[in-house]
Amino acid sequence: MRGNIQGNKHDFTAAYNRRWPHAYFRAHLALDYVISDRAKPVFERIFAEYRRVRNKTSLKIIDVGCSYGINAALLRTDLDLDDLYAAYLKSGGSLSGRQELEHRAFFRDRGLRDDIQFVGVDPSFRAVRYAQTLGLLEVGVTADLETRDLSVKERCALEDADILISTGCVGYATERTFARVYDASATSRPWVVAFVMHPFSYDDIAAALRGFGLETKHLDQFRQRQRRFSTLVERRAILKAMSKLGMEDRLERTTGYIYASCYVSAPPGEAGLPLSGDPC
Ligand SMILES: C[S@@+](CC[C@H](N)C(=O)[O-])C[C@H]1O[C@@H](n2cnc3c(N)ncnc32)[C@H](O)[C@@H]1O
Repeated sequence: MRGNIQGNKHDFTAAYNRRWPHAYFRAHLALDYVISDRAKPVFERIFAEYRRVRNKTSLKIIDVGCSYGINAALLRTDLDLDDLYAAYLKSGGSLSGRQELEHRAFFRDRGLRDDIQFVGVDPSFRAVRYAQTLGLLEVGVTADLETRDLSVKERCALEDADILISTGCVGYATERTFARVYDASATSRPWVVAFVMHPFSYDDIAAALRGFGLETKHLDQFRQRQRRFSTLVERRAILKAMSKLGMEDRLERTTGYIYASCYVSAPPGEAGLPLSGDPC
């Protein structure tokens, strides 16, 4: 992960690429990781705006850093993140076991909506395989696009996208990944909606998207909690980095949570009034 908080930022990577998501949920609940839950109503609002502007009902969403398909699970059902934490982690919870059939049935029985299809991009191939096997993702692209280009088959999977989304992933994924994903789907001129944990900068990604003719806005009203600070050392390092970058840190200082900023990119003038914000 880039940036000057390297070495001080909490390391979740041991839980990213397991066959089952339990370790991921355990590690993230321990720090009250909530960004995917807090992002859900914002994504829904932006999806509604996109549907209105483009006059579309069915959406193809690309989730960059999709992990075990958590955004797909939240956005294709009425479940919230607490439901998932309880299902996976509570003793006797519906997903506490390791039976593929049970896991698949759990999401099917929650009426996975099929007017929102997900394609996931994440190098954690076991996590992506889990999400695909369960039907949360239509297709998974298990590539590290920081280090290589997409194959022809992977590019095809990303075509005709409506919206690219991302939570908890910028920092691992940079402008290199976003440019490669956007390039493969550019014909349909998808919007991009990303939650970016402080103090990571979105400037280089916004610049790459500008190269595809998109205008990026920082929507301060949609800033959300990501997770709690893990240690005092991490808190100090993040606050120091934020202050160096001139980022406003009142919430981090008072709540004990690290926040994530919301950025929306769309062709100029397309995203309407409810999505107005400061241009990047
Ligand atoms: C904190 S998790 C976030 C997962 C999910 N989006 C959420 O909010 O629950 C970060 C994810 O980024 C993924 N990741 C790491 N490097 C990446 C890269 N180069 N491109 C895309 N995803 C990457 C990890 O495998 C992991 O699944």
